[in-house]
Amino acid sequence: MYVKQTLISLVSMKKFVVYNPTKLHFGVGVINDLNLSLTAYGRKALLLMGQGSARRYGYFDLVVEQFKKANIEYIVYEGIKPNPVIEDVRKAVEVCKNVNIDFIVALGGGSVVDSAKIISLAYASDVDPWDMVTYKVEAFTKVPVIVVLTLAATGSEMNPYAVIQNPKTLTKIGYYNPLNFPDESFLDPSFTLTVPRDHTVYGIVDLIAHAFEAFFSKGDDATLSDRFVGAVVREAIEYGRQLVNDLQNLALREKIMWAATNALNGLLFFGRETNGDWGTHNFAHNLSVLYDLPHGATLSIVFPAWMRTFKDKLNYRLEQLGHLIFNETLTAEQTIEKIETFFKEIGAPTKVKDMGITGQEEKERFLQQVINNQPQGFNIIMTEDDYKKIVDLIWE
Ligand code: NZQ
Ligand code: ZN
Repeated sequence: MYVKQTLISLVSMKKFVVYNPTKLHFGVGVINDLNLSLTAYGRKALLLMGQGSARRYGYFDLVVEQFKKANIEYIVYEGIKPNPVIEDVRKAVEVCKNVNIDFIVALGGGSVVDSAKIISLAYASDVDPWDMVTYKVEAFTKVPVIVVLTLAATGSEMNPYAVIQNPKTLTKIGYYNPLNFPDESFLDPSFTLTVPRDHTVYGIVDLIAHAFEAFFSKGDDATLSDRFVGAVVREAIEYGRQLVNDLQNLALREKIMWAATNALNGLLFFGRETNGDWGTHNFAHNLSVLYDLPHGATLSIVFPAWMRTFKDKLNYRLEQLGHLIFNETLTAEQTIEKIETFFKEIGAPTKVKDMGITGQEEKERFLQQVINNQPQGFNIIMTEDDYKKIVDLIWE
């Protein structure tokens, strides 16, 4: 009896399952192994890309070389926009149906990878992609997805999430499906050398925000996951700070790329009482929907405001976070200030005015947008009063 009680009081992590089927290739030159993998997935691929960077910087040519080596036929679909939209996904699904592809290669950042995941499921399961991501219909099968990543940020290369916008409904939603894990991902840090300063900054913010979302799950018993949060954020701060002033530094690109993958591949979430909080992401998505702001920019604006709004509830956890990432004894407010200062230092916006959004009328329109969508977290429940407080803070 004594033993049982002791165990219960000591072992208080929530039960969890570790499942991550993505085969990940990391390091300079991994692209040369792509042909060896391609042959396992069929004879005809959809090559999905964004709005031109992959062609402009030669990554397209490197991938085509691999297709040729493997003797794989490919059909290009390009033009996926940052903050991807459901209409582009629908069009790409039609292309897949017309030519009968066996698998998809996503060459790009998170927007291309997320679109590829949704296209894969909607095409193979023959369902409307919006009905699928809003869980009106179930997707039960997929075609394989191979990722060649060109931007370090989202972690989509090794996770089961896909995020998509619908301009008609003014919503941006995250879609979870265990089938969303890419089959293989190729992460060559040299592919990120051409990412401009602003998107490099947004990527660093995004990965830090993922670690924070994990940390603000309910409870404080997943101590190893907490320490992983500290490690990932410290890595991002130490090397991110250097990288934004040294964009051609491959060693720094490598550090940030690996940190971003680990920030959202499960490692930071195991054993927690809720699967993160995500209130900040869900709130911030409304800035993407209304103003088409880059994802990372929405997070450096909303996260400090969210932390301040719930400072009393989060007090002890903010102090812990401060110690984990800055190795100092800090109050909750001091922790928030130091995070905000880092965001400013690397050139990330912390107020909407930094992205050119101002005015009372805009403020009211945005508040209404938030109220309409009712963003929520798994741990901290937000009321309409809280929405108003956050909007006041980001509009200062
Ligand atoms: O469109 P192209 O021409 O390719 O240009 C892109 C785009 O303009 C450019 N870019 C990408 N790689 C480059 C490059 N430019 C130069 N050199 C390169 N190597 O960068 C711009 C941004 O690309 P994007 O893919 O939109 O960025 P990111 O990777 O940050 O993805 C953002 C999307 O992912 C979602 C976000 O909400 C947003 O829609 N997220 C996905 C998550 C997931 N699946 O787990 C989680 C995240 O929280 C996030 O919500
Ligand atoms: Zn994010």
